[in-house]
Amino acid sequence: MIKNTELTYGSVAKWLHWITALLFLLAYIFVYYLVWFVDHDDRQTYSFVQSFHKAIGFSVLIFFFLRVYWRAVNPKPKLPDHMPWCN
Ligand code: HEM
Repeated sequence: MIKNTELTYGSVAKWLHWITALLFLLAYIFVYYLVWFVDHDDRQTYSFVQSFHKAIGFSVLIFFFLRVYWRAVNPKPKLPDHMPWCN
């Protein structure tokens, strides 16, 4: 099902979640590749990889707003009964 219900998250929420997780991971991989492996004097490669990092980072920001919107217009599934709140 596409939308959330009281019992479970819908497919859109799940896709938004995992795409954001993947993009976040990619942003880290690209920036650490940049810092650890790209020669600072190789300006062309440096700015190419840096642009990738920035583009992925901005995508995370866009997905953040999409997720906040989707969260606002959908019911929030309850936690399972066996999962107590932390005190
Ligand atoms: C999910 C989003 C992002 C994550 C997780 C992230 C993560 C990081 C990390 C960990 C570093 C530091 C690397 C180091 O020096 O050890 C870094 C550097 C940097 N980030 Fe991001 N970042 C994100 C988004 C962005 C965005 C949106 C921009 C720019 C518009 C950006 C621009 C930069 C730049 C310019 C550097 C310096 C890279 C260099 O050493 O030349 N980042 N980022």
